[in-house]
Amino acid sequence: MTIDDHLGQGRGAPRTGETRRMTGARSTSRDIERYADLFAQRTKVMRSSAMRDLMAITARPEVISLAGGLPDTSTFPPATFAAQMTRIAQESSAEALQYGPTEGFGETKSAIRMVMEAEGMSPDTADIIVTTGGQQALDLIAKTLVDPGDVVICEAPTYPGAVPVFCSYEAETHQVAMDDEGMRIDELEALCDWLDAAGRKPKFIYSVPSFQNPAGVTLSLERRRRLVELARRREVLVVEDNPYGLLRYEGDPVPPLYQLEGGDYVIYVGTLSKILSPGIRIGWAVAPPPVMEKIALGKQATDLCTSTLAQYFALEYFAEGGWRAYIESLCEIYRARRDAMLEALERHFPPQATWTRPGGGLFVWATLPAYIDTSDLLAKALRENVAFVPGAAAYVDGAEGTNSMRLNFSGSTEAEIREGVRRIGAVVSAQVELYETITAEHRLPQPAAPQPGADVVPLRPPHKEE
Ligand SMILES: Cc1ncc(COP(=O)(O)O)c(C=O)c1O
Repeated sequence: MTIDDHLGQGRGAPRTGETRRMTGARSTSRDIERYADLFAQRTKVMRSSAMRDLMAITARPEVISLAGGLPDTSTFPPATFAAQMTRIAQESSAEALQYGPTEGFGETKSAIRMVMEAEGMSPDTADIIVTTGGQQALDLIAKTLVDPGDVVICEAPTYPGAVPVFCSYEAETHQVAMDDEGMRIDELEALCDWLDAAGRKPKFIYSVPSFQNPAGVTLSLERRRRLVELARRREVLVVEDNPYGLLRYEGDPVPPLYQLEGGDYVIYVGTLSKILSPGIRIGWAVAPPPVMEKIALGKQATDLCTSTLAQYFALEYFAEGGWRAYIESLCEIYRARRDAMLEALERHFPPQATWTRPGGGLFVWATLPAYIDTSDLLAKALRENVAFVPGAAAYVDGAEGTNSMRLNFSGSTEAEIREGVRRIGAVVSAQVELYETITAEHRLPQPAAPQPGADVVPLRPPHKEE
């Protein structure tokens, strides 16, 4: 009996021409039961990305979404887009509609090298593979390196979209705390020692060192040096994921790990999603040749090649020469939105809350009193037509970060940000008041604003050794 027959018996044969979709609507447990014996073991540990689940809800026009990680694509001039696509159609139609090489066109790799040079890196284009977004690069790296049960280390909190990747490949993921200078390297050393004593070695350390998603924190230069030194000494790979390095709103640039280390132990992941468009799905990885060969084999099996049309569009865009100016214009807009968010938090969040003050990127990470669960709070916020990402999404076990939230400031206007933060603040304040009434406990206000000169409010109290 085929699955179609089976479904036909179970719920009545589909009408002619009816398409059955298992993905759009949530499958019921009865649906899942029908297929249960067919699923691979690994599907048991697959996790949904919290952001993608939320996107369905936040697509409603009345919802102010501070949940997504969306760049503001309305800033890209439609006339430029139209002219570029027209030129492609007129001058390279057959080529742009054709398959391309798995590792990407040489011209795309040269454009990528140019983007990396803007942050001081100069990779060999032979070490670059063009991927379908940075997300695919992460997936391919995990596919290449991780067997079930292998150890992967990442930051706490980590990029929520990396969590489903590590889960899919059945990694044993350990998260290392951060403070206002990024990942705690002393804790990382201690974890590596502990693993070493058990005869285990991490397959890689995953980090978003600049304007981290979700925390907005930047790894300090001193810690970057220690991290690459640790990688070399222990012969462990570091995966540096850097979508936000060029979206800097203040301060001096800090060199990427790839530049500091020289490329032997750092696999670099980049993307055009936040500096041009996530819709074109162009990202890349830079890795030493033996690793790159395996990643390319993995990509062949996944999608043969990244969209040729998208690569042609990117080439047109870079050939025009205005890409640095476009990034500058994005920085202007996002700086003002970040400031609007920080002001609104100051104004509308209760004094018991703290939050980071990112010098770039797209996110603020807010932490509420421990008795508030932000997953529960989200349900209340959605009733007020506003959304954020609950902090638990940034933790592999989902048990930590439960009193934190990620707030995005790039995808909404300043007015929407102010109103969105006001609504969330009201829901938070109601929870705090309720708790204090019930427990009659009036906690001392914690400072909501950062210390003068500090980049961010610490996520955790600094360790005394540092
Ligand atoms: C840290 C990080 N890595 C990777 C990605 C994936 O980006 P894309 O697949 O659009 O290139 C994102 C997107 O938000 C991100 O924040």
